[in-house]
Amino acid sequence: MSQTLEAGATARARAHSNIALVKYWGKNDAVLNTPAVGSISITLDALYTDTRVTFRAGLATDELWLNGCRHDATKASRVLDLVRYSRGATLCAIVESTNNFPTGAGLASSASGFAALAVAATGAAGLTPTARELSILARHGSGSAARSIFGGFAEMHAGSAADGLDSYAEQLLPGADWPLAILVAITAHGAKPINSTVGMGATAVSSPFYPAWLATAPTDLADMRAAIAAFDFVRVGELAEYNCLKLHALMLTTRPALIYWNAATVAVMHAVRDLRASGIAAYFTIDAGPQVKVLCLPIDASRVHAALSTVGGVLEVRQSALGPDAYRLD
Ligand code: ADP
Ligand code: DP6
Ligand code: CO
Repeated sequence: MSQTLEAGATARARAHSNIALVKYWGKNDAVLNTPAVGSISITLDALYTDTRVTFRAGLATDELWLNGCRHDATKASRVLDLVRYSRGATLCAIVESTNNFPTGAGLASSASGFAALAVAATGAAGLTPTARELSILARHGSGSAARSIFGGFAEMHAGSAADGLDSYAEQLLPGADWPLAILVAITAHGAKPINSTVGMGATAVSSPFYPAWLATAPTDLADMRAAIAAFDFVRVGELAEYNCLKLHALMLTTRPALIYWNAATVAVMHAVRDLRASGIAAYFTIDAGPQVKVLCLPIDASRVHAALSTVGGVLEVRQSALGPDAYRLD
């Protein structure tokens, strides 16, 4: 690249959170941050991150300011290092970011956070990456972030190449092609005690079910891909719930145990099963945290919202549709 990266170069981006219908848990390579299994997710329009990246002269390290507070920038620097490398530059950056939902609480702030960082950092550096290159870059911050580059339904490929270049996400279906509703029942606002990176590392070395998790992932992915291609909502919901409970069986059998649920989490799971018994097609999924995301058809959303709101311990219910690709704000 002939032009140098100028101090003051800046750009802003927005990326949306996502929830996995077939989950990622476990890594192939901790340095490249490649996942041990593929995953399939939907991007949420109601939950997002806005991030500004500004390259500055005279900074000794990168700085991350998250919702106004200084935050550890180690993972952000992995993404920024790759951007600097491709520009032959050394300038450090200030990253100013806001999440419009709880951070580190099982709502995939690492997904929207690092997808927004990838778009903003490359934008500030004057690069014009492809969506696939952005997905790989975002993955270096957080595996789930590779999927938040894309709106609608996205699939992450685990890949097997030594350089990690075949470990990226792709869009399966734009959100507009299949409108769905997601009700997010928030049962705690605080950060989880064990973050996802540490939790999945512990599972890989201690759960006796981890080999079965790896062995059964390709079938779950193929079944989910087929269910989405057929617009078969009941099949998507059943598979998502099954894969979620399989993930939590792994977490519960990790030593020491990873119990991300609280009492309200379990109460919401039962409320969803009661809704189904009364004829409403609603299905839950839960990530590494106590929040429950409930999938339903838009026509049922207000009834599901009302039912979840009355469950004891539910602090708020946020309704979301499928969200767009990550994009530049300015
Ligand atoms: P979550 O369930 O929210 O994804 P994780 O444990 O996976 O929880 O990741 C939380 C971490 O992600 C935070 O501690 C922080 O390091 C990083 N993170 C969250 N939001 C942002 C953001 N907007 N910009 C940069 N990094 C972020
Ligand atoms: C349960 O992507 O947060 O949400 O790559 O270490 O940052 P790191 O982990 P992260 O893990 C997400 C785990 C999950 C399932 C999923 O989103 O696929
Ligand atoms: Co995360």
